[in-house]
Amino acid sequence: MAQTQRKILVTSALPYANGPIHLGHMLEHIQTDIWVRFQKLRGHLCTAVCADDAHGTAIMIKADQQGITSEQLIDRVRQEHMADFKDFLIGYDNYYSTHSDENRDFSNHIYKRLRDNNKIAVRSITQAYDPEKEMFLADRFIKGTCPKCKAEDQYGDNCEVCSATYTPMEMINPRSVYSGATPVEKESEHYFFKLPEFQDFLAKWTRSGTLQDQVANKLSEWLDAGLKEWDISRDAPYFGFEIPDAPGKYFYVWLDAPIGYMASFKNLCDRTEGLTFDDYWAKDSDAELYHFIGKDIINFHALFWPAMLDCAGYRTPTGVNAHGYVTVDGTKMSKSRGTFIMARTYLNHLDPQYLRYYFAAKLNASVDDIDLSLSDFVQRVNSDVVGKVVNIASRTASFINKKFDGQLASDVSENAMIQSFIDAGDVIAQHFENREYGKAIREIMHLADQANEYIADQAPWVLAKDETTLPKVQEVCTVALNLFSILATYLKPVMPQMVADAEAFLGKVLTWDNRSELLFGKTVNAFKPLMARIDQKQIDAMIEEGKEAAVAAAEAVETSQATTETELSKDPIAAEISFDDFAKVDLRIALIAKAEHVEKANKLLKLTLDLGGETRTVFSGIKSAYKPEDLEGKLTVMVANLAPRQMKFGLSEGMVLAAGPGKDEIYLLEPHAGAKPGQRVM
Ligand code: 2FM
Ligand code: ZN
Repeated sequence: MAQTQRKILVTSALPYANGPIHLGHMLEHIQTDIWVRFQKLRGHLCTAVCADDAHGTAIMIKADQQGITSEQLIDRVRQEHMADFKDFLIGYDNYYSTHSDENRDFSNHIYKRLRDNNKIAVRSITQAYDPEKEMFLADRFIKGTCPKCKAEDQYGDNCEVCSATYTPMEMINPRSVYSGATPVEKESEHYFFKLPEFQDFLAKWTRSGTLQDQVANKLSEWLDAGLKEWDISRDAPYFGFEIPDAPGKYFYVWLDAPIGYMASFKNLCDRTEGLTFDDYWAKDSDAELYHFIGKDIINFHALFWPAMLDCAGYRTPTGVNAHGYVTVDGTKMSKSRGTFIMARTYLNHLDPQYLRYYFAAKLNASVDDIDLSLSDFVQRVNSDVVGKVVNIASRTASFINKKFDGQLASDVSENAMIQSFIDAGDVIAQHFENREYGKAIREIMHLADQANEYIADQAPWVLAKDETTLPKVQEVCTVALNLFSILATYLKPVMPQMVADAEAFLGKVLTWDNRSELLFGKTVNAFKPLMARIDQKQIDAMIEEGKEAAVAAAEAVETSQATTETELSKDPIAAEISFDDFAKVDLRIALIAKAEHVEKANKLLKLTLDLGGETRTVFSGIKSAYKPEDLEGKLTVMVANLAPRQMKFGLSEGMVLAAGPGKDEIYLLEPHAGAKPGQRVM
């Protein structure tokens, strides 16, 4: 069994630092973690690194909306991500951030090598620009009316109603989602990576066995169609790294994201004896490097990334392992159905090892989607893990503990079965190595069935009734616990905590190689239940929590819109405007004819406003400060010509004005006595 120790570096895709980890992420991190734990269990030097992907416009805008700095946002989210992974028993050797000194250094260094190798082109392009926010707008940050079918509220690149594609400037009434301003066209210089010059290199590299066949075939289509230069720069304001020789220009988030793999590893090397960066990343490295990713980001990992690495003088990945998406009960995860399940929501109700087992049982080396069928999940975990594997130990451990003081038989007359369990490890190892976890699990469960049949045939509970057959009870239970110990070894990458508990019971730290060292004549410890069955109620409660979270999240967005509208969280020093600008705002006295709670909304009130004949509905984030009944009959001031906004709870046709810092300190404006509904405010 002696084998040479491999040096392996493994990564998972870096999650964006602007939102929580959900079960779609977890599939990948579980897939990676099982593989890494398997390699470690086999005695290889395997290192797993990950990080948060901390740069880009979305993160900058989100932080701005929350009134915090981008740094504060990414620090908070990183803590949350790390807690989620830890609690799912995902054991990264380092979980870093792309917003780090190491990553800045590597990004600059790699960029300079690309530039010095004449692989960077600079030219001007024209893009949509928000003149109010003074920033360029990607297409998805522009909304407007479809020029073809006239559907409203469509994104700046295509219409979800009629599927037309267009440029933002071709839309009717395009507007920036940030400021509502009409975008203008503006030119600026961008930096491009000359990907077409790597056509031959990539045609060869993608066929060199580093990719799954399905993936290589897909890439061939792109390669045949011809590669385009890749825009790697973004203009300020942008949360990222400024390009060294280009003030005001920043690396596009996807340039420094994969470099984050190197940075996270370097950060680990710098505090780990014996781990050397160059051993893993130098062109002549004999270490293996694997990236686990989702199928949606293959082009970044199998085209841009190897080309960049090769050009900058580094080794390229040994393998890029893509997986499919997670569906729940056969359909896309859905917030309203409660099946867009956050890692934390899951953890609030269920043991992470259930999901680790279920994903393992369904995973293979293809990019096919993985369905989490909730009823199958309950059934499979209960019958396989609890009913088969744990059962082997729980049916036999008590006899050893009670009748033999924990002492196992010193020898057994028949150990062919034990030997066959040991031998099966070679095939199971092959399956794990090849990421065919489903096949590995099938083999393991097949063995578990045999072990249970053996116990049922021998019926130690019958033998135990007769003093003369007691030695046989000890022997049968010793065989069973040896079988259990071997199965636990095979399951250790999948269910590390359960196996740690089994190890405590067996008094042995299990490794792949020591599975052949049998437990004869040893004393085991007290047996504690290793894993409970899943109760359908836990699933129901998790789905219910998911639904509630979806409502709360929708409301948070709407409240933040409502709050922004009331200017509560904004910088009090606004830019100077002309009188004409001010006169554009149609401020009116409004009578609050009706104020109501909104079902399932924690922060919004629905106001029916009377403008002297005309009625408007406005959703306002003032519930924390006012009881509806106290508002009815009062006068206030509203912006009457604000573009209506479609909210989850209904159409909001304007906004009411308030002062104060927010929360329960919100003060609606009220005119002096005598003002009449509908009167203009100047
Ligand atoms: O798609 C994503 O979620 C990206 N944040 C993945 C980045 S992977 C790597 F390149 F950094
Ligand atoms: Zn349309």
